[in-house]
Parts: sequence; structure tokens; C-alpha cells
Amino acid sequence: MKKKIAVLAGDGIGPEVMAHTLRVLACVATQFKHQFEFIEAKIGGQAYESCQSHCPDETLQICQSADAILFGSVGGPVAEQHLEKWINCETNSILKLRQHFDLSINIRPICVYPELECYCPLQNNGAIDHINFIIFRELTGGIYFGEHKQFLINGQRFASDESVYDEAKIKQIAHAAFKTAVTRRRKICSVDKANVLATSKLWRAIMNEVSLDYPEVELTHMLVDNCAMQIIVNPQQFDVLVTENMFGDIISDLAAVLPGSLGLIPSASTSLSGLGLYEPSGGSAPDIAGKDIANPCAQLLSAAMMLRHSFKMPTEAKVIEDAIKFTIAKGMVTPDIAIDKVTSCSTTEFIDCLIDHIGNVVVST
Ligand code: IPM
Ligand code: MG
Repeated sequence: MKKKIAVLAGDGIGPEVMAHTLRVLACVATQFKHQFEFIEAKIGGQAYESCQSHCPDETLQICQSADAILFGSVGGPVAEQHLEKWINCETNSILKLRQHFDLSINIRPICVYPELECYCPLQNNGAIDHINFIIFRELTGGIYFGEHKQFLINGQRFASDESVYDEAKIKQIAHAAFKTAVTRRRKICSVDKANVLATSKLWRAIMNEVSLDYPEVELTHMLVDNCAMQIIVNPQQFDVLVTENMFGDIISDLAAVLPGSLGLIPSASTSLSGLGLYEPSGGSAPDIAGKDIANPCAQLLSAAMMLRHSFKMPTEAKVIEDAIKFTIAKGMVTPDIAIDKVTSCSTTEFIDCLIDHIGNVVVST
């Protein structure tokens, strides 16, 4: 199969983990006789340096013409946020892409693989291997895309951020989440703050309405503060979580603690038109960029999600996922998840081992 992939590496650890991921994809392509064409495009601070734009038109065109978008990360170091290059970098790049391509359904899988159980911080919690849930995060609405204002009244500084949801947006993510729930344990937990927020009251009402179309799925509601606690206290209870933009941002970082590192969590953002953007759930981690120690798994697993969801290549996706488990089971881990930092490996060593493994996979097709 021939596929065009728009490659937006971006800032921080983005370029290095992306370069390794392309090596892995090239290896998978060889094994399965596919042709993956990688078209690189600029995004974030990296784009600003050469084009004075965090998301140039050319990048949008490349994404538009591709079969899928593989995204790295954007944003700069905390101490440099005042530099023009980093001002509104995330808003102008990744948020712009999400809005432009209407990527409103964001999926973040959280599971603790048996090979990685020792990295889960909840060692005394029992049944760690039963931690396996998916967060459906609405990605193009709510407070992220309302009006943001800073203003003065009588010399006092004010700021406001508007949060708006319309029922169409909520229905879209609800249906996506319910459809997935049907294929899993048939349990959905909708997360909101309906005891306070109007948007959450609407959210809850729509979830109840949509649930009538899926009588086989059990819908429960949970307030977001309680959900934050439940994710740590009893994560096994969850199967599919569905929530609005900002709550999804926060609880997905929280849930990422369970597998051991944010560097292990991929994400897929899809639109009704079918275009998908695949990116690690974490950020650009500028503090570790260029040191060859970044965990490449989130980027690799995002590429695997791209193969599965956009290209309908489940076997190829599984080859990458299995190779990650194999490599980690061999004791090859980057410092973020290494219990004993001394025995951790570099990103390059990890990928070399992983590619070696994929190279030995016998393809039966
Ligand atoms: C994420 C990130 C982004 C978000 C940032 C980079 C704007 O934290 O994808 O979770 O808040 O959505
Ligand atoms: Mg986030």
C-alpha cells in the first residue's frame, strides 16, 4: 500500500523521537512491502524561526494532501517564554491544526502492560494488569477555543476565558466514545463538573440522550475532581472515559502516571472527514532535548495508532507495539522509566534494539 504521511516534528524532543520513528516506519514498510512517503513540514517554534509563523500555510497544505499527520511536539523552555518565537506557540500551531482540520475526537489509551508492571507506581493496588482504559477527549471546543481576554477596569487587571459547547460537538464525541465502548467492556464514564458548570449540565444531558441509542452500554457520570481521585485509587473500574477539552487535558496527564511515564502515552485526533493527526500526549520536554534520552514510545505508539486507524493496518501496528514490549522486557528502558537510572539506555540504543527485532519478524502475508 502507498501512503503519504505529513511529518511535523516541531520543537524540543520532537525532531529526535520523530527521526527514530521514521526509521521504524521505514523498517515496517520494508517488511510489509508498503510505500510510506514522508513529507516534512514546519510547525511551532521551529517554523517561526524560518517563516515568522507557527503554522505556515504550506504546512496546512501538506497536511491537507496527506493520508495522515504524524506530529511531534511544540513549545519552548519555561525560561524562554517571553521570546517572540514562543509567544502563543501552542495556540498558533497545534490548536490551529486541531481547529483547521476539525480534529474534535481525541483518543488517549491508558494501559499497564504486564512487561511494564514494575514501572506502575501503584504497586500495592493489586490487579495492575487490569488497568486498561481509553480517554475520549473533546478537542475543538470548550475553554480552549472561547474568547480569551485580559483587560483593565479602574486600573484593576482582569482576565476572562469563555467556555462554550454546542450540542452537536458533544454528540459527536459521545457517539465516538459509545461506539468504542460497544467493542470493549460496554462501560462509559462521562466526566464533568455538572454541580457547577452550565457546559457540564448540557454535557450530561446530551450523554444521557445519546446513551439511549446504545442500550447495551452502561453509562455513569462522575465529577472531574472525584475522577482525578478514582484514577489513582481504583483505575481498574474504568473502561471508556469521555470528557470535555480541558478536563481531558488534565486527567490524561494524571492517568499517564499509571503506565509509568507520559513518554508512553500516544494519542489520535480524528475528524468526521477521516483525516487523523497522531501525536504523543506529552509535550516537547525542552530540558531533555538533544540528550538522546527521550522516551520514544509515545511517538512510536502514535505511529502505530496511525497505522491502525488511518491506514487499516492492524498487523503492522501490532508489530510496533509488540516490538516495544519486547525491547522493554529485555530491560532496555530510557531514564524516565528506569528504576535504576544507571542501567537505563539511550533513545538510540532503544530504537536499534527495537528495529533489530522488527527486522526479524517474519511476515506471513
Ligand atoms: C495536550 C497538550 C496541549 C493541550 C498543549 C500543548 C496545548 O497539553 O495535547 O495535552 O493542552 O491540549
Ligand atoms: Mg496536555
